[in-house]
Amino acid sequence: MTKSLRARRRATLLGSCLLLGLTAVQVHAAGAPSLIPLPARYQADGGKDFVLKDAARVGGNDEASRRVAAQFVELLRQNGGPTLAVAENASKAQIRFRLDPSATNPAEAYTLKVSNTGIDVSASDDRGLFYGAVTAAQLLTDQTPGEVAAATITDAPRFVWRGLMLDSARHFQSMDEIRKLLDAMAQHKLNTFHWHLTDDQGWRMEIKRYPKLTEVGSCRVPLGDAGRDPATGEPRRYCGYYTQAQIREIVAYAAERHIQVIPEIDVPGHATAAIAAYPELGVTGRKLAIDNQWGVFPNLFNTEESTLQFLENVLLEVIDMFPARYVHVGGDEAVKDQWIASPRVQEHMRRLGLKDEMEMQSHMIKRLEKFLEQHDRRLIGWDEILEGGLPPEATVMSWRGTEGGLKAASEGHDVIMSPVTHMYMDYLQTSSPDEPPGRPTTIELRKAYGFEPVPAELAADKRQHILGLQANMFTEHTRNDRNLEHNLFPRLAAVAETGWSPPDKRDFDGFLQRLPRQLQRYRAMGIHYAQTPFQVDMHDQGDRSAGTATVTLDNPLGYAVHYALDGSAVSAASPRYVQPLQVRLPAEVRAAAFFDGKPLAAASRFAITAGSLLTRDDTRLGLCPGDGKLLLRLEDDGPADGERAVFNVNIFSPCWLWQDADLAGVSAVKVRAGRIPYNFQLAHDEPSRRFAPARTAHGELEILADCKGTPLVSVPLPSAPGADGFVELRAPLHAAPPRADLCIRFTGDTRPALWTLDWIQLETTH
Ligand code: ACM
Repeated sequence: MTKSLRARRRATLLGSCLLLGLTAVQVHAAGAPSLIPLPARYQADGGKDFVLKDAARVGGNDEASRRVAAQFVELLRQNGGPTLAVAENASKAQIRFRLDPSATNPAEAYTLKVSNTGIDVSASDDRGLFYGAVTAAQLLTDQTPGEVAAATITDAPRFVWRGLMLDSARHFQSMDEIRKLLDAMAQHKLNTFHWHLTDDQGWRMEIKRYPKLTEVGSCRVPLGDAGRDPATGEPRRYCGYYTQAQIREIVAYAAERHIQVIPEIDVPGHATAAIAAYPELGVTGRKLAIDNQWGVFPNLFNTEESTLQFLENVLLEVIDMFPARYVHVGGDEAVKDQWIASPRVQEHMRRLGLKDEMEMQSHMIKRLEKFLEQHDRRLIGWDEILEGGLPPEATVMSWRGTEGGLKAASEGHDVIMSPVTHMYMDYLQTSSPDEPPGRPTTIELRKAYGFEPVPAELAADKRQHILGLQANMFTEHTRNDRNLEHNLFPRLAAVAETGWSPPDKRDFDGFLQRLPRQLQRYRAMGIHYAQTPFQVDMHDQGDRSAGTATVTLDNPLGYAVHYALDGSAVSAASPRYVQPLQVRLPAEVRAAAFFDGKPLAAASRFAITAGSLLTRDDTRLGLCPGDGKLLLRLEDDGPADGERAVFNVNIFSPCWLWQDADLAGVSAVKVRAGRIPYNFQLAHDEPSRRFAPARTAHGELEILADCKGTPLVSVPLPSAPGADGFVELRAPLHAAPPRADLCIRFTGDTRPALWTLDWIQLETTH
């Protein structure tokens, strides 16, 4: 069903009132430039500035340096600077690159000197020289574009692994989008692109020996409008894979930018697409379809020799396409139920003398590790590969926290830290209603920035095993490039700084000072970075009888907020917000966050009325007590293209909490509900899924005071929403207490659909 996007109400409210002091990010006196990541050492030289002239030329002392010079021209252009020409003769150039193999710099290091005659970049390898070019391009697109203060920068990264993982299996990205992300990674001095190419929902890499992996495994029929041809009503498939030629093209494109590409083939779980293509790889022998569910699937590869040979044959082609030293073999979230239930797997384990399924998984991983080693490659796996014993040379990617990484490093294994608590980019970055679908547990920019990859508990002689850190972008809920870029930026800048800059130099306030320049570069690059951290959030607390409200404004990053109450446009000359505002209803508040006199994002407009004080939308409601919690921000399944309605919902229990609702004088309740697909495999979390029992054919909307007892409201639900995808339900409210915690829930097991709350409005008689 096509569902129109509901009008999002910005005038929402939250009972709590956040008091904000005068802590806004202040513009520091002009000094160090806006470089991200911060260089290891920046020294102002006190001489005359370099001023870029239109006729300026770029040059290099040899062929390799001239290649970097040409890359610099492109980096500067991408950042919004002018397009300069490369000089034939380096001595005629003002921006000069010099490879000096005799210099004893660490890997990736460079030196950059700015004087009134130009910018000189030197390094002992082309990686370092390239990073010097990145820095030079940022210097020339700073506060006063084209003007750079005399200075010397001596720079080298803290970690060798500065990564981004992209899931191209759940949703598929075009070659152009991958190239755009690689460009952005290079601009952040990130050097590892971990490409998640296989999963339950799709196999996205051509393997010539097994053509069905992509013929069958790269397509699924998505839910809703996108899964049906509007003309014929026939199923319409969502397909995508990268040919080997395309993969080689991406690998080469990345290599030019000094980014290694690490492929991931997920084993033994997340294997549904492969098993759908070749059912003999599975445990049950059943033919599987690639369905359109998310979550943790039960399907595992079987443990037969023929399956291991299949995996090795796949790896042979993978190794041929990906020159990087590492190959990732997954290992995550492989629930072992199918292996436990399979007499063949159990018999296999007995034959091998393995005591449990963890050891069976470990046996498979060790076999693959040996194979990779024979082909001069090293194995990486998610931290589950620690269970049942780790192959000696394996590198661990710690995602379930940092504990797995700590254990592995303590045992002498190399580790990459990418904990779900700080490094998962599908976790949303603010609690704004304008966030895209994802996981509403927020990983704010500050939190991402604050992540320290080396655990304090790790012994000093084991610290070198922490190779670095990685941001992971899983894409179940990220259907398009715009949302992908929203989730990645600017948080990737924070990840980059942690990966590159010396720990004692990291400073979030300084980072916020430098960030606005980076946003300008993002705009020049056409990157749709998140606006939400730069917008203003509003909370209000009303006094209905007095006809007034107390309004709290907040920028999530602490940038200065200015506001207008008179309907005029907000500017830096508008009053600065310093403390909650008292307004008379109805009121209109416009507000924006500013840095250095310029707005950081479009102004927000909030209408505060008697009605808005009595209204809450899903983003401003909590979770009902006593339920299991898996809060997601989910989108509707239509329209096929374009924007869709999104809802915050606990998929374990569709119930929303309005804490301490003021019910005085309230005589009726109105609720707008939407309906979205309920498409989750929960594996061992299944028992946490709870539905209150339905009393009528299609279940009810129920509202309970203090979340218990007889419902205050119980309204039967229709079999389906209206043509716009929503239904509005209204019911009188009798015998309600003057204040209560309201639990608003939908009863019944409505799978494969799920009713979701859009908003609730209390109605008074006057
Ligand atoms: C993971 O998030 N399953 C690595």
